[in-house]
Amino acid sequence: MLTRTLTDNAELAALEPWHANEFATHVHNARAHLSPWLPWALTVVDTETAAMFLQRYADEQAKGNGRILGIWLDGKLVGGTLFRVWDSRTGMCEVGVWLAPDAVGHGLVTKAVGAMLDWAIGVRGMSRVEWRTVPDNTRSIATAQRLGFTREGVLRQAFPHQGIRHDVEVWSLLASEWRQS
Ligand SMILES: CC(C)(COP(=O)(O)OP(=O)(O)OC[C@H]1O[C@@H](n2cnc3c(N)ncnc32)[C@H](O)[C@@H]1OP(=O)(O)O)[C@@H](O)C(=O)NCCC(=O)NCCS
Repeated sequence: MLTRTLTDNAELAALEPWHANEFATHVHNARAHLSPWLPWALTVVDTETAAMFLQRYADEQAKGNGRILGIWLDGKLVGGTLFRVWDSRTGMCEVGVWLAPDAVGHGLVTKAVGAMLDWAIGVRGMSRVEWRTVPDNTRSIATAQRLGFTREGVLRQAFPHQGIRHDVEVWSLLASEWRQS
């Protein structure tokens, strides 16, 4: 079980299909902030689509693959982290993150991803964790850097989103580079 107290008033815990209503409300309120970067912020539009999105992660988790976690601040869902890609065979996964705008700037995602890395590397034995972002997403890049990820290169125009083909930066962290927190 991957749950962790992040601060006095913030907790990282499983985000499950039964949270669909809460998740839909959270995405609705944060849509303008999230949708420039995250395609699912445009497709999760109500409780039903939120449940479908969370069920996909629940199914992957049941197979031992990806999973999604929420960050609750003072009991309110304000963001989360997920393993968008998980491949036990090759020991590689990709982590993703998001926060509501009013939760940005407090280190919540840095702490949450620290817990994800402890678990992925320390418990599940993953060798390599990827972080992918468009070059304009300076906050995402700053978080990757803060956590010790290394920029590897650019997948040119690899991300079609809202009518534009965006470049994608690939950052990675190797197990040998991660110090357990
Ligand atoms: C990407 C995103 C999650 C980053 O949020 P964030 O709050 O900047 O991330 P962190 O958890 O790393 O917090 C770092 C900030 O908290 C501050 N901070 C405070 N206490 C801290 C601590 N103990 N540890 C680390 N940072 C701390 C840092 O100084 C920094 O703020 P600053 O940039 O204003 O100096 C957020 O911008 C977001 O949700 N964006 C929209 C969705 C998105 O782009 N997702 C990623 C797609 S690739």
